[in-house]
Amino acid sequence: MQHIYLDHAATTPIAPEVREAVAQAMEDCWGNPSSLHLFGRKARDLLDEARVTVAHALGCLDAEVFFTSSGTESDNMAILGAARVAPPCKRHIVTTAIEHHAVLHACQRLQQEGWEVTYLPADRYGMVDPDDVRRAIRDETWLVSVMHANNEVGTIQPVREIAAVCRERGVWLHCDAVQTFGLMDVSVDELGVDMLSVSAHKLYGPKGVGALYLRGGVKIAPLLVGGAQEREMRAGTENVPAIAGFAKAVELSHSRYASAGQQIWQLRERLRTRLQERISVLQVNGHTRYCHPGILSVTFEGVSAESLLIALDRRGIAASAGAACSAGSIEPSHVLLALGMSEAQAMSTVRLSLGRGNTPEEIDLAAEVIAEEVHRLRSKTPAPTGV
Ligand SMILES: Cc1ncc(COP(=O)(O)O)c(C=O)c1O
Repeated sequence: MQHIYLDHAATTPIAPEVREAVAQAMEDCWGNPSSLHLFGRKARDLLDEARVTVAHALGCLDAEVFFTSSGTESDNMAILGAARVAPPCKRHIVTTAIEHHAVLHACQRLQQEGWEVTYLPADRYGMVDPDDVRRAIRDETWLVSVMHANNEVGTIQPVREIAAVCRERGVWLHCDAVQTFGLMDVSVDELGVDMLSVSAHKLYGPKGVGALYLRGGVKIAPLLVGGAQEREMRAGTENVPAIAGFAKAVELSHSRYASAGQQIWQLRERLRTRLQERISVLQVNGHTRYCHPGILSVTFEGVSAESLLIALDRRGIAASAGAACSAGSIEPSHVLLALGMSEAQAMSTVRLSLGRGNTPEEIDLAAEVIAEEVHRLRSKTPAPTGV
């Protein structure tokens, strides 16, 4: 059976060159980069080179890049680390209702400590209004956190406009760019952000490694203590092979993101039109113009996303729900609910996310199979009335 992977927003397969770079680093650079001897220096050199590569892709200085264990840690570090250095009169954060849980749960933790958090809404296309950010910022506001592309519906936020508002009001802006780094231009100066989170496994790199960009002059508190690594911002011996793999993934993605983005977008559009041709009632979610090139969120009214995903998996197609799986039960996604969907609509939504390994033939076959399964599942339930 042919297997078609349409879950690149969850994770991407490791690029062969990345695998090689990781293996090479394990072989040649296994020393502790904090050691002063030859073995340590070799690991240190690789680490330094990797930092330069990531910094180059972000358009920042290498001293502004801090390696972490994940996008989640980068988000936590930015929000909790910034909060730890806030003066007592500045205990307010502005974020959005559609952020990843790595941001939302960090904010909720601060709320438990007495912070105030404003969760801005998004419109039905998943877009946050910079004027809402302007209105939400007050004298006590310490930080704003708005993602670049939403991981469920793909909508790209007006980060540049939001950054201009934050700069005007003298408030730091953090941006979660986990879904876009490696696929789009994520230049920190272009975006105007003060902090930015990225993760290697979304761009064909290894899991368990990410980075946080901190603009020079933005001083936050470390989450992890107990060592002077990462210029005292993140204690713990660095995962040099994973970081080397991350740098290789960045190098590969950065050299071809414009063409890869275009190619993936064409495949996404092919899938969207094929599905629309074959299935009479469906709703494509997210923004039609400001959209991540590889994310296609679709609601099939009257169809349980869970049943559809199981059926697709049986037929070799890997996709995911616009729902978070927690404690064994599928909950409706907070993002889809924030876009104004009903619980039933949210539970009928699947996310098809494409990557650079997909082919037009795969897309045509996937559309065929998805349509067959949607029709089969719908034939068991009353006909949809339109979403
Ligand atoms: C927008 C966004 N932020 C953060 C994360 C977390 O990244 P990681 O899996 O590296 O912890 C993800 C992962 O899905 C994501 O999509």
